[in-house]
Amino acid sequence: MKPLWMDLTRVAHASASNLLAAVAPSYYLRLTGQTGRGRAEERTSDVADYFLRSFDDYFRQLEVAATDIPAWLAGKTLLEYGPGDVPAVALLMIAYGAEKVWCVDRFPMLRLSEKNVAVLELLLGGLSGSALQRARGCFLRHGDLRSGFDPARIEYRVNASGLSGLRQCADMVYSRAVLEHVNDLQATYADMASALKPAGVAVHLVDLKSHGLHKDNPLDFLVWPEWLWRLMFSHKGVPNRWRRIHHLQAAEGAGLKLTNVQTTSTADPADIRRVRPALAKPFQDLADQEFACLGFWMVAETRA
Ligand SMILES: C[S@@+](CC[C@H](N)C(=O)[O-])C[C@H]1O[C@@H](n2cnc3c(N)ncnc32)[C@H](O)[C@@H]1O
Repeated sequence: MKPLWMDLTRVAHASASNLLAAVAPSYYLRLTGQTGRGRAEERTSDVADYFLRSFDDYFRQLEVAATDIPAWLAGKTLLEYGPGDVPAVALLMIAYGAEKVWCVDRFPMLRLSEKNVAVLELLLGGLSGSALQRARGCFLRHGDLRSGFDPARIEYRVNASGLSGLRQCADMVYSRAVLEHVNDLQATYADMASALKPAGVAVHLVDLKSHGLHKDNPLDFLVWPEWLWRLMFSHKGVPNRWRRIHHLQAAEGAGLKLTNVQTTSTADPADIRRVRPALAKPFQDLADQEFACLGFWMVAETRA
């Protein structure tokens, strides 16, 4: 396998754009057209379906039946890490009974673009009765989707660390395709643990794939030395490369008790064998099973 660090053009290009992302994050986001769901053109109905699926998935993981969701959510306060460009899952959480959702991001992704308003309209169109009224109440002017989110219901916060700074405020912390991007894994799990109330739950879907940053082997993005990876990507929110074991250790280190961990996608053993001799230092001592896991659901709770 050709050493990847020899790809000097790629290193130069990625490092220069990383610098741009550091000094002008909003401009970089606009330039790259990031939504949080990739850059492909998606149909409005597909995006709305994605958020409905995401909402359902959280409760499937929590083993809460669809009919029990309103009772389970009633009066609860939630924290979502990394909602992407439209906090549609938070809107559904409020519609079905939650009191408030804090949405915290490291990047200013939120856009009430025509497309995102159309996505929200579709979601509202699928609601009725008190759920619809609650969803309409998420906006500064009741039912006016363009007026912006009312922070009493959906509070969108952006800061450089992506951390909430909340203390024992949240009954549930959730995220999808976010924890593989966070810049400080231990700090994020510590933030999660301190944001949760004593009987709180955390539910996260983590995608450990390369996000298109591999070359010949789906795992060869783990070959770049850590310093070079940071030089090229530290301000772009690309994968932090930490494997499942690092997440589980960080969660337990923060005082969370893991109640369910489920692998969602696996690597080909031949790819693991081929990449192993070239792995960067942080990954050299890990067992094969850690490379086999390319995604997982994690459910955790605060320790009694
Ligand atoms: C792949 S997107 C997923 C968006 C959304 N959860 C979804 O499923 O469509 C990753 C999100 O995580 C955010 N993010 C990256 N680093 C973060 C951090 N340290 N803390 C919080 N959010 C972060 C990104 O800005 C983006 O909104």
